[in-house]
Amino acid sequence: MNSNSVAMTDLSEMKHKLETVCIFGTGDFGRSLGLRLLQSGYGVVYGSRGLKNSLLLPKGSKIMSHAEAACEAHVIFVAVQREHYGFLSSLASDLEGKVLVDVSNNLKRGLYPESNAEYLSKLVPGATVLICGDSADAKQQVTNIAQSLSFTALDRGSLRAAAELEDLPLQLFPLWRLPLNIAICLTAFIFFYVLTRIVIYERVTNGKDIAFRIMISLANKAFPIVSLVMLSLCYLPGALAGFLQLYNGTKYRRFPDWLDRWMLCRKQLGLVALAFGFLHVLYTLVIPIRYYVRYRINVYTISLVKDNKTYEFDNTAAWRFDSYYSMGILGFGLFVLLGITSLPSVSNSLNWREFRFVQSKLGYLTLLLCTAHTFLYGWNRFLNPESYRWWMPPAYMLSLVVPCVVLILKLILITPCVDRKVTRIRQGWERQGKT
Ligand code: HEM
Repeated sequence: MNSNSVAMTDLSEMKHKLETVCIFGTGDFGRSLGLRLLQSGYGVVYGSRGLKNSLLLPKGSKIMSHAEAACEAHVIFVAVQREHYGFLSSLASDLEGKVLVDVSNNLKRGLYPESNAEYLSKLVPGATVLICGDSADAKQQVTNIAQSLSFTALDRGSLRAAAELEDLPLQLFPLWRLPLNIAICLTAFIFFYVLTRIVIYERVTNGKDIAFRIMISLANKAFPIVSLVMLSLCYLPGALAGFLQLYNGTKYRRFPDWLDRWMLCRKQLGLVALAFGFLHVLYTLVIPIRYYVRYRINVYTISLVKDNKTYEFDNTAAWRFDSYYSMGILGFGLFVLLGITSLPSVSNSLNWREFRFVQSKLGYLTLLLCTAHTFLYGWNRFLNPESYRWWMPPAYMLSLVVPCVVLILKLILITPCVDRKVTRIRQGWERQGKT
């Protein structure tokens, strides 16, 4: 085996000749990477301490010592854990001028004083480290390989960005943090609101203990309210952005950071809202079998029999109940559809217009139906002074504030004269004097 360094060649030229790429490490990562490289037409040599792992390696690859493998390729992937980098310093002369790609991540943040990539570059100062790295040429070479493996390479800057890149897989739900915090705070607020308005009020004014209602009745108030408010919070930033663009007279001015961040987590807001909607539907399903509900129905029926009265059919009540159930069911059905189309496997199969139609048009329709469901549920209780206890309106009234604001803003945005302006701005038109 030739143990001298291979001549340096431009990788874009070598690509047609299916150049050989070297991988140090024959573990799971190294084997998967090697297979993908082979499938994409590259030659693959593995550098390993022992040659006994060769049976597990992808067909078509070769295995040799680190020094020999290093001489076979110009680009070398280091697919071993940081603790085992030590052997690289003894190969410093073989690695001189090579492109060394560090693909490692750590198990914890801040485990080591410097990033793995920086540590690697210290061990082998003559080599170039990627994909953030200090050599534009070397980054281009690894980008070419990544592209031929059907990956999109993202240049994240100099080697100093390595620590941040290596920590990326350790981030815990970064885009979910805001939606989850909103959900927790809203649930807590609504729960204590209805607890005060229903359970504590009854205890204080009538001396009755109805705390058992916490388990289902109160939960089935808090969850749908959180769901409705969060659904409307998905659409509020889009509406605000429309007004901001109208005000700025251009689409080329950046949105404030808070709005940008809010827009970025709309999908997560929607999925959390859907989860709360699901809970509401599940809680609603058990209403007829609840002991309390059956007890109330029995007491009422018996009292009718005792008093020799009949249970008159109320046509308005029938309309009211059927309408609000129907709106709820339709709204929930569309809500589920929105959730499904937001999954990457589904959204990737839609073109931009289809995705926009579902997420925007059907999204607003979902919001409209769920808001109508809540309005119909409230019916004429809005006007009934007895609904207000300790000056506190029923919680569903509070839940209608944000959805109504969003729907009104949307209504303004879709009026023909405003819509025409917003559409022109979004097509690139700018008002004179605005940049
Ligand atoms: C209330 C049914 C979907 C929002 C109710 C109630 C029922 C119900 C029976 C009255 C609960 C009670 O008496 O305490 C349904 C059904 C649905 C559905 C059958 C679909 C299958 C939704 C969805 C949302 C929603 C998707 C919101 C995104 C609300 C709200 C209330 C409510 C805000 C008022 C809660 C309160 O303050 O008591 N729904 N619902 N519902 N629902 Fe739904």
